[in-house]
Amino acid sequence: MKIIVADRTDPSGSSSIEQIRRWHRDLTGGPIIGLVPTMGALHEGHRSLLRQARQECDQVALTIFVNPTQFSPDEDLETYPRSLDQDLQVARQEGVDLVWVGDRDELYPAGFSTRIDVPMMAQQLCGISRPDFFAGVCLIVLKLFHIFEPERAYFGEKDYQQLKIIQQMTRDLDIPIDVRGCPLVRESDGLALSSRNLYLDDAARQQALTLSGTLFKARELWIQGLTHSAEVCQQALEQLDPAVELDYFEVIDREHLTPLEKIDPERGAVICMAALVDGVRLIDNIILETR
Ligand code: PAJ
Repeated sequence: MKIIVADRTDPSGSSSIEQIRRWHRDLTGGPIIGLVPTMGALHEGHRSLLRQARQECDQVALTIFVNPTQFSPDEDLETYPRSLDQDLQVARQEGVDLVWVGDRDELYPAGFSTRIDVPMMAQQLCGISRPDFFAGVCLIVLKLFHIFEPERAYFGEKDYQQLKIIQQMTRDLDIPIDVRGCPLVRESDGLALSSRNLYLDDAARQQALTLSGTLFKARELWIQGLTHSAEVCQQALEQLDPAVELDYFEVIDREHLTPLEKIDPERGAVICMAALVDGVRLIDNIILETR
């Protein structure tokens, strides 16, 4: 009989939860599964997640599901870009082992009523204009975690707030999954890759470029020595095309997402932004590394 007692003074340094996980893994064994959840319309950003999973795991599972619970009634659920044939081609090229295309009725049968929320982190930034968004994301991600039981799951830093909320949920609920963040992938001109870029015409795309322009400027100011968030934001935002409707532009703590008045050179920060460009909501961010 094995006995595991929660004991903070355990000489091995591993918590009792870690010991249970190890016990479970030793018993069940099997290949390391890496999960890459997406809503399809795959691009280079998604490919980068698949590649990292491919490098680090024995089996790579890709999910494609445009999750209705993260869209509000006035959003683009019905028109969200769908390109299954191309997506399957991408999956084949990236050596994916399993593609799962989700179905709304199977995932949310009549009578479904559970809600998952990480309120503090989800009520700011994108959560202000999209109050139910992260509850919907957490719900589907948690369901996928249970369905696939992967060892690792891959999410992009492009959706920085989403990544941090999923990591928080995973920690809070003791979910035995390593949630890994992958770097944001941009077009060569700086535009952050997004499935919603497909909605932009040439003029809107030019305007959208000024989003990353403001973030690059902000990073430059940080590197030059500015530390007051208000100054960084004010000067950086001069780069933004006046036709762009800014939702938010905030300097926040990299882990807790709390707003920072001043950036600590030893902690760095991240600047997150969201804006409407010709009616298309885009988000972008930049990490200010420690100096
Ligand atoms: P989706 O927008 O399809 O993105 C799927 C994953 O790809 C997310 O983890 C996202 O951060 C990552 N990604 C998108 N664009 C990226 C880029 N330019 N660089 C790096 N990674 C990028 O995010 C979602 O779907 C959904 O909310 C989901 C997590 C699947 C839940 O429904």
